[in-house]
Amino acid sequence: MPDLQTVVDEIHRELSPRFGEGRVADYIPQLARVRPDRFGIAVQTVDGGVHLAGDADVSFSIQSISKVFTLTIALGKLGDAIWKRVGREPSGTAFNSIVQLEREAGIPRNPFINAGALAITDLLLAGHPPKAAIGEILRFVRYLADDEDIVIDHEVARSEAATGYRNAALANFMRSFDRLNHPVEHVLGVYFHQCAIAMSCRQLARAGLYLAAGGSNPLTGHRVVSRQRARRINALMLTCGHYDGSGDFAYHVGLPGKSGVGGGILAIAPGNASIAVWSPGLNDVGNSALGTVALEMLAARTGWSVF
Ligand code: DON
Repeated sequence: MPDLQTVVDEIHRELSPRFGEGRVADYIPQLARVRPDRFGIAVQTVDGGVHLAGDADVSFSIQSISKVFTLTIALGKLGDAIWKRVGREPSGTAFNSIVQLEREAGIPRNPFINAGALAITDLLLAGHPPKAAIGEILRFVRYLADDEDIVIDHEVARSEAATGYRNAALANFMRSFDRLNHPVEHVLGVYFHQCAIAMSCRQLARAGLYLAAGGSNPLTGHRVVSRQRARRINALMLTCGHYDGSGDFAYHVGLPGKSGVGGGILAIAPGNASIAVWSPGLNDVGNSALGTVALEMLAARTGWSVF
């Protein structure tokens, strides 16, 4: 096994001529303001090692990576009952696609496409006003990362709310099939705020550690989910975490991963490490272009592919 800090430093150095590659998401105006040449990587190993390079301590908008954490909360509250509301199959369509919703009676394919994440957010609203649901999600992420300084970027949440026509369409469409229990504006409000959680690579890698370590956080000793549930969340990340790019990500990287349009990716090397990368430029399917390349290099050099 090569020295991990050396591997992380080499990846940073070798990719530096390419910083800025890809296209920064601009459909949420506030995301378009991020400097495209940012690049950070954090590898948090299950035995407590932390290996950082580049902008690993700079906060960015985790966006869809939050869907891993809301899925975990929903499974904790409702267990397998959530699968009545959302499927477990890759969609083969873009993250914000609406086409399958009509054919499949308002049941989204999986919890990571937007429609599926909205269904999960709706479940988290049971018995809570939106503010409390947002507070619960933020508290959970802080607990996972063992870091009380993690906050929501309210500018990003507002910016997305002001332009979120597509998500509003998805939520209204699902509501028309009676697939949401709460007012559309409540579901959207919570969803936009969970997406606007800001974290650094270091914080995100720590937050994902429970998925690398069989369901508990070895740094805090907290059991977050059972071993079986951690395995299943990883399975969903592998098959659905990169939308219509999931097959390609599995082919090149070979790790469960979840991307966000802020340019972050959380990847899990089960039994070894939780890894966060951030590079804002996206590829054609909306996943971090250089983040994917960095993870491919890391998986190749460590032998961490699950295959
Ligand atoms: O729903 C949206 O448009 C965003 N808040 C999140 C989308 C996202 O991160 C998709 N991932 N690549």
